[in-house]
Amino acid sequence: MKRTFSFVWILALLGLGSCNHSAESKIDRRVETLLAEMTLDEKIGQLNLVDSGDLEELVRTGKSGALFNVVDPARVNRLQRIAVEESRLGIPLLFGRDVIHGFHTLFPIPLGQAATFDPQLVEQGARVAAVEASAAGVRWTFSPMLDIARDPRWGRIAEGYGEDPCLTAVMGAAMVRGYQGGDLRNPTSLAACIKHFAGYGAAEGGRDYNTTKIPARELRNFYLPPFEAAVRAGAATVMTSFNEIDGVPSTGNPELLHEILREEWQFDGMVVSDWNSLGEMVAHGFAADKRDAARKAILAGTEIDMMTFGYSGHLRELVESGEVPESVVDDAVRHVLRLKFRLGLFENPYVDEGLSARTSYAPEHLATAKRCALESAILLKNDGALPLSRVRNLLVTGPLADAAHDQNGTWSFDADPGHTVTPLTALRRVEGLHISYVPGLKYSRDRSSAEFAHVTAAARRADAVVVFLGEEAILSGEAHSLSDLHLAGAQSGLLAAARAGGKPVIAVVMAGRPLTIERDLANCDALLYLFHPGTTGGEAIADLLTGRAVPGGKTPVTFPRTAGQIPMYYNHNNTGRPAVGNEILLDEIPLRAGQTSPGCTSFYLDSGWEPLFPFGYGLSYTTFAYGAPRCDRETYGPEETIVVECTLSNTGRCAGTEVVQLYVQDLTGSIARPVKELKGFERVTLDAGESRTVTFRLPVEELAFHGFDLTRRVEPGRFRFWVAGDSASGTPAEFEVR
Ligand code: NOJ
Repeated sequence: MKRTFSFVWILALLGLGSCNHSAESKIDRRVETLLAEMTLDEKIGQLNLVDSGDLEELVRTGKSGALFNVVDPARVNRLQRIAVEESRLGIPLLFGRDVIHGFHTLFPIPLGQAATFDPQLVEQGARVAAVEASAAGVRWTFSPMLDIARDPRWGRIAEGYGEDPCLTAVMGAAMVRGYQGGDLRNPTSLAACIKHFAGYGAAEGGRDYNTTKIPARELRNFYLPPFEAAVRAGAATVMTSFNEIDGVPSTGNPELLHEILREEWQFDGMVVSDWNSLGEMVAHGFAADKRDAARKAILAGTEIDMMTFGYSGHLRELVESGEVPESVVDDAVRHVLRLKFRLGLFENPYVDEGLSARTSYAPEHLATAKRCALESAILLKNDGALPLSRVRNLLVTGPLADAAHDQNGTWSFDADPGHTVTPLTALRRVEGLHISYVPGLKYSRDRSSAEFAHVTAAARRADAVVVFLGEEAILSGEAHSLSDLHLAGAQSGLLAAARAGGKPVIAVVMAGRPLTIERDLANCDALLYLFHPGTTGGEAIADLLTGRAVPGGKTPVTFPRTAGQIPMYYNHNNTGRPAVGNEILLDEIPLRAGQTSPGCTSFYLDSGWEPLFPFGYGLSYTTFAYGAPRCDRETYGPEETIVVECTLSNTGRCAGTEVVQLYVQDLTGSIARPVKELKGFERVTLDAGESRTVTFRLPVEELAFHGFDLTRRVEPGRFRFWVAGDSASGTPAEFEVR
């Protein structure tokens, strides 16, 4: 199959993951039969998702139909047996868990997976996660997170696929397919839960749980497309987000949950709240109390309440008082039961208690995870220090050199760090390389420079130094936002100390977000960046450093120079006064300069207007050259497909993989349009000296957007396009749409 990815590629997969028609009608009949037998309390029980309390009693009395965070297969079976054999109707439980980037075998965090630009590999990773998690009895994962994130201060940027709607949509659909397999009934499938619907990544100032301001068109054009793509790929469930948009919390937002999700997108799966997001509508000031929150949530379309106990506490009286029609509760229960039937839980409720031990960390799982870690590594700088050649004595230093727990990243609570191979361990296994190790710092926040002199002295004795820097796992993820994105603690000082040894210095950063590393770039000859790479990260890094593998990852998010530049993302609208390149920066401004001397354009006096690294950027050990892009015609009709071609040549001395990216700009619209938008990408592997023509097929329909009147359509006019190795380079060409 040709590996060019775009929205249309996703649309072609429409229907995958859903059962066939006759099986579905059979399920519908079983749902109706069961629903007819249920008391109101039993219905409400199916809408109550909990992970604590007297679980056995809740299950036995039908007060909870789904549990999460139970991952011991024996306990899963014990609770399931109570549901099936002791509750009045014997409805099986659904067990959920945050399986975010693997279960036992950990893949790179999602942001790292996005850096591969390889959805087929990402899909295989989700399949591995599903096989391992289902072996423990989990059949529902709260993943993938499809929140567009333009702000690396937000700790949860780690959990998503970056700033771009096209990349996030492609990766989200791949994750859904991987988790759910071809058929939800397969006991190794997990029901995916796309989250957080919607706009959570736009938290003001990057502070988690903060309010968002997303104009309606922006919501449609940037934040919702990945969710729509994942729904079309068959996502079984959706989780509402904590945030409010323009004053309306998602858990109580009928426009999002009814109009867009159900009516427009025809979603027929189930909607769950986030943890207590129903109750938090009281704190938002959107609901008077928990009872009011329960009323608003169920009427808006939130079907399962995660951990608020709002439905279990108040739904009965809301139905009895007529404030909530019982038919609304019935619809919610239908979606829950339908999911349980689709998963085959009625036929196959139990898990083989020995399966997990036999399945986890299987060699083929580790191999797939390693491929993913390899492809996720982004080479940001290389003055020739990499790959290491003629290096016999290598000094390894830095707080991330041997930190299994931190290398695993956020959401790693089912993984045993004992299985994680650190770079130190992996490098020690490389034949012919003598490793000396001086930690330098104990952990990433460590401020002590006590070992720095020792590091400098050891660096002098070595042929080269690799400094492992970054973030502890705990510095990113939920509720872990930062306002300062420099390397924490004394890490920059450690790099400088290594530099003082006078030998080539290679920095390897492992983090949960793009950090502001501009000043550190000056203190190294090469820099390899990985978003926490998981179980096999150390082996992958050793292969990359020694040249057994060639880096090819690309930034899935813009790297700002300073936190003060944020928000900074490549697909922004143009301003009326874009920077033109002759702006005068802070240190160049003459004394008593005239008011307009720096240039009246959009830039910062102290950091200009460009990022440190743009979206889509990443180097290789070889070099690539792009020919001028061309399209097959000058003008296209609305139903036609634009065929774009470009010649890519490997101009260096080794084979390598390049992520070829197609960007388009709609030059004039009924509203201001982004300066560039990713419309397709393809991973191309070329031998040294080889050239190939890369072809993208872009249906004109993919140029549609929600314009002035908020309807989605393609607006005729001129378009510019680029085929390039990142979002900031390339030769432009143009076409027209009639
Ligand atoms: C809160 C998080 O926002 C969500 O992503 C997660 O799935 C739930 N907690 C359950 O752990």
